[in-house]
Order: sequence, then structure tokens, then C-alpha cells
Amino acid sequence: MLTVIVTGSNRGIGLEYAKQYAKDGARVYACCRRPEKAGELLALAQANSDRVTVHPLEVTNDGQIAALKAVVGDAPVDILINNAGVYGADDQDLGACDESKWLETFRINTIAPYKMIATFADNVARSRKKTIVGMTSKMGSMDDNSSGGYYIYRSSKAALNAVLKSAAVDLQPREIIVLTLHPGWVKTAMGGPGALITTTRSVTNLRKIIDNATLADSGKFFQNDGAEVPW
Ligand SMILES: NC(=O)c1ccc[n+]([C@@H]2O[C@H](COP(=O)([O-])OP(=O)(O)OC[C@H]3O[C@@H](n4cnc5c(N)ncnc54)[C@H](OP(=O)(O)O)[C@@H]3O)[C@@H](O)[C@H]2O)c1
Repeated sequence: MLTVIVTGSNRGIGLEYAKQYAKDGARVYACCRRPEKAGELLALAQANSDRVTVHPLEVTNDGQIAALKAVVGDAPVDILINNAGVYGADDQDLGACDESKWLETFRINTIAPYKMIATFADNVARSRKKTIVGMTSKMGSMDDNSSGGYYIYRSSKAALNAVLKSAAVDLQPREIIVLTLHPGWVKTAMGGPGALITTTRSVTNLRKIIDNATLADSGKFFQNDGAEVPW
């Protein structure tokens, strides 16, 4: 049985990961910052009470990361999915970025995944799949940036990419696969109604990448259809 941790699993792409892995029979630690408001996720956990549990996790809260680690203990974790993320601020034009919002976005999008990886690397190393996923965005790619702007979101995801690349190098001796994944432009609160694909399609494709990944893929940046994204 696969064991999976998903952050930000109460809605959007994270909820879809929790649903699909639950359907496949996995043990899912489904994390979100306000479990009492996570109706759909709580229903999923209730319907799969032997395998799906919901855990409070505001990803910038070190105490809650430690509390999750205490619950997981030494159990193997096959797939750690760092999904929780924010766009950052409505206005991200040159000269308009709010510094405190920028720093908070870094805490959520960049530093929290680093802390989660450091905390759960031992659990991942003990598993069969040995996989860590970071949900990034092509908005963090230098190569893809032809339209400018979006300083807060772009820089937080570019920095996340650097975190994931370093983790791939550092964890390579332990045979841990670290994947940097772009989900596509997905119909969620963040992606908006004009987005191109559903969470179902996005996550179905992302899971194929995760399923088929080998250590040779660690440290690479993939988009939803499996193609590599230039950094
Ligand atoms: N949708 C797209 O087109 C798209 C494209 C590229 C990359 N991505 C990335 O994919 C990931 C998921 O995006 P999405 O579209 O599903 O976004 P979403 O619908 O806005 O959902 C974001 C999730 O992250 C959680 N979250 C935000 N801040 C958090 C924090 N401080 N602690 C814990 N959880 C927090 C949210 O929880 P609350 O409900 O409590 O706010 C929610 O569960 C993000 O990392 C995003 O950057 C999305």
C-alpha cells in the first residue's frame, strides 16, 4: 500500500491528489490549514476512515509540521506532495509589489516545502517509491518568461525550483526522486474559470509522471504532459 502526504489538500489540485490516491487504496495523510472547514476532504476521510486522515497544517507553522511528524512517526512515506501554494497578491506589477506579501509568499511557496522535505526525508527514504514532489509553475521558469511582471509569484516558484534541485542532489545518495512539476493551467481558485484543464485531468497526468519516474528523472522540471520544461 502506498503512503502519501499531501499539503493543501482541502481544495483544488491538492484535493484531487487526495481523492485519486484514496481511490487507488493508498494511505493518505491529507493536510490542510482549517480541517473544520474542509467539508469535501472530511467526507473523503469518513468514507475511507481506515486509510485517509485529515491533519491541521498551516505550512508556515513549524509546530504543526512537528505535530504531523509526530503522528507519522517512523512510517515509510512513498510520496510527499508539496502542493500548498499562493499566488501572493493581486497587483504584482513593477513598483506595485507589497514587501510583506512577497515575504509571506516566500514562506508558503518556497521555505515551507524546504522544511517539509527536511522533516520527512527519512520517512521517504524508508519507502518503496521514495518520491518527493514540488508543485511549481512554468511562471517560475526563466526560459518561459516572455511577458514579465508577476514578480512575487514568479520569484517564489523560481526559488522553489532551486530548493527542489538542491534537494534532488542532496538526497540522490539515498535514492530519493525529487520531481519539480507544473500542473498545467488548471481550473481552480488560483487558475480561475478560464483555465484550460480540470483538476482531474491535471492530476491524472501528474500521477503518471510520478508513477513512472526513476532516479534519472530526479532534479528535472516536468510539465503536465511529461515534457521537460527549460529552467
Ligand atoms: N491552478 C493552476 O493553474 C496552477 C498552475 C501552476 C501551478 N499551480 C500550483 O499548484 C498548487 C495548487 O494550486 P491550486 O490551483 O490547487 O490552488 P488553490 O485552488 O488556490 O488551492 C491552494 C491550496 O493551498 C492551500 N494553502 C495556501 N496557503 C497555505 C498555507 N499557508 N498553509 C497550508 N495550506 C495553504 C490552500 O488552503 P486554504 O483553502 O486554507 O487557503 C489550498 O488548499 C499551488 O502550489 C500552485 O502554485 C497551480
